[in-house]
Amino acid sequence: MNYKKIIFNKSREVSLDKFISKALYDKKNGYYMKKTPLGKKGDFITAPLISNLFSEMIAIWCVSFWENIGQPKKINFVELGPGDGSLCEAILKTFKKFPKFNDCCEILLYEISDNLKRIQNKKLKNKKIKWLRNINNIKTGPTIFFGNEFFDSLPIKQFIVLEEKVFERYVLLNEKNDLKYIYKKAKKKYLDQLLNFEVPIKKNVIEFPVETIKYLKIISKKINKYDGALLIFDYGYNNDSSGESLQSVRKHRYTDIFSKVGNSDISSHVNFKLISNFLKKKNLIVEKIVNQNRFLYKMGIVDRANIISKNLNFKDKADLYYRLKRLLDEKSMGSLFKVLLAKKKYNKFSTGFN
Ligand SMILES: C[S@@+](CC[C@H](N)C(=O)[O-])C[C@H]1O[C@@H](n2cnc3c(N)ncnc32)[C@H](O)[C@@H]1O
Repeated sequence: MNYKKIIFNKSREVSLDKFISKALYDKKNGYYMKKTPLGKKGDFITAPLISNLFSEMIAIWCVSFWENIGQPKKINFVELGPGDGSLCEAILKTFKKFPKFNDCCEILLYEISDNLKRIQNKKLKNKKIKWLRNINNIKTGPTIFFGNEFFDSLPIKQFIVLEEKVFERYVLLNEKNDLKYIYKKAKKKYLDQLLNFEVPIKKNVIEFPVETIKYLKIISKKINKYDGALLIFDYGYNNDSSGESLQSVRKHRYTDIFSKVGNSDISSHVNFKLISNFLKKKNLIVEKIVNQNRFLYKMGIVDRANIISKNLNFKDKADLYYRLKRLLDEKSMGSLFKVLLAKKKYNKFSTGFN
């Protein structure tokens, strides 16, 4: 990417969140806008691409949720950042096995990248699916908002404490045309936000998910008004640990953030504690955050694998259990990935979390 022109067209420095936003989502040159990041040939792989069993568990969870809230005549399933459409393809198949639910469910995809929208369209070829320009456009409910590895891809701000003063991290294009971090005194509104969100002001790097908060504000409003839930899966932490978590990945390997701007993914670990506190302040009930493996075990993923494996030859059986292990193993995705459920007040549904 000619990041010099695109990111720094007016000044030689931008805040970190603006830098990430341009690097990933610049209309023409952003990473997600021109590349197909997922899969073996791409840069990284996600749970829905590892095994359809993951998506099946999400589909069954949605049907159970719908039953629990009294089988409303209409329910929206909104997938935030559907990637290459793998999850949606698999859940459509499972939803069909529950015709009553299937008739009531409207599937809406929320995707920023036209390139990925094309890929999703090609894969899904399904009249039932619509793309949502803005999640604010949801005018009826209830709605299940679902996101797998959506929030980790949203731009963050970073702050650092030096001699008891808080500074914000910016990216500078220096005279030699190299990218460097610089620090500017943090604006009061951001300091207030950190305090408001109870983010501990520590000496190491403090991360603040500015974009995530914008989405959570809209989602919590919709759930409070129309009923529904937010179910998210992502890698992250559920304590005050924070610290530097910004990372860049290309061809399944970590790279330097500045080495392939626009051609490598940039993401950060999700602060589940902050998200949970925010949603509670918005009057939603947040279930105790669990690890991905616990949720999937509770949803019966192993039983389902055992049933499917009965009809498989040895090679396919081995592949099925190898993939299952990747989803569940502590050393793989099992505990690094966390699951959060937020729902409307008085809703007691806790399948997968109890
Ligand atoms: C890391 S990928 C995850 C893809 C998919 N959920 C999966 O698990 O395979 C992030 C997805 O979120 C989309 N995305 C990121 N930021 C977005 C935004 N602000 N609005 C809509 N989609 C966004 C990306 O284009 C991509 O589809």
